[in-house]
Amino acid sequence: MTGLTPEYVAERLATVTAAVNETLDALLPRPEGPEARLIEAMRYAALGPGKRLRPFFAVETGRLFDLPESQTLRAGCALEFIHAYSLVHDDLPCMDDDDLRRGRPTAHRAYDEATAVLAGDSLQALAFEVLASPETHELGHIRADLVRCLAVASGAQGMCGGQMIDLLGVRDDLGAVARMQRLKTGALIAASFELPLIMARAGEAERQALMAFGRDIGLAYQIVDDVLDAEGDAALLGKAAGGKDAEKGKTNFVTLLGVGAAKERLAHLVDQTKAHLEPFGARGALLRTSVDFVLDRRF
Ligand code: IPE
Ligand code: IPE
Ligand code: MG
Ligand code: MG
Ligand code: MG
Repeated sequence: MTGLTPEYVAERLATVTAAVNETLDALLPRPEGPEARLIEAMRYAALGPGKRLRPFFAVETGRLFDLPESQTLRAGCALEFIHAYSLVHDDLPCMDDDDLRRGRPTAHRAYDEATAVLAGDSLQALAFEVLASPETHELGHIRADLVRCLAVASGAQGMCGGQMIDLLGVRDDLGAVARMQRLKTGALIAASFELPLIMARAGEAERQALMAFGRDIGLAYQIVDDVLDAEGDAALLGKAAGGKDAEKGKTNFVTLLGVGAAKERLAHLVDQTKAHLEPFGARGALLRTSVDFVLDRRF
């Protein structure tokens, strides 16, 4: 199956990113009143220059099913609000204790720890507010399914559960490491596919195929993040690198197997990920090419 060029994906990502940034800005409250500091910190964290990969997947999956972009953008922004909150909390001194995020001081450095905690909490609440609004979908039962999907992906058996395991550490067990990665990063990325599938009321075969794709690209994405931590350029990444995970005693594919073996696993996972799109034929070309694009990334 032929793919599109990486340049085409980059162009598409830039177009979607611009629309996402506009929507994020419109959905975020304006800093007013005595709580303005909290809202400024929310805006700082959510509007910082991220790749907007999760909204991109949501919008592109929506296009497969001809969903209105105004609705998939809202779902994508809900994912991005959860993601931004997860990064604010991930960077806190009680977690990864990082000073740099998206090329700027982390939220607790730019503000203070209490403000960062509250900004993360408020971004999480905003995500659910957006999904529960009629502008996201006209049918209440679909909105309830969207809310439940994002809640599961974010909570104890999704992102937060994975973060807990990451902090506790997993010892010498690749299966357990893969599960941790699938939870802490994979679950939210998989939800980028599941939310539009819910909105489209997609059939079971297409749903299964895209969910499997989402789960595998989510795992692969975190392995790339771990490779970049070991050998990436901190200036390009806009966050700490230089083997910080190893230094902090984190367990992941790279710290367990070394960069070379982790990359071999990644290559295998990439083939497996793309194979899930076979039922979509030419319709799946953009998502198929985006696998190479996001996994070859340098930042
Ligand atoms: C970083 O995510 C943390 C992970 C879950 C791997 P991204 O690499 O998507 O970060 P941004 O949104 O582009 O900053
Ligand atoms: C973070 O993983 C995953 C989240 C759920 C936020 P990392 O701790 O490796 O992410 P970075 O490297 O700080 O972006
Ligand atoms: Mg972390
Ligand atoms: Mg971190
Ligand atoms: Mg990392």
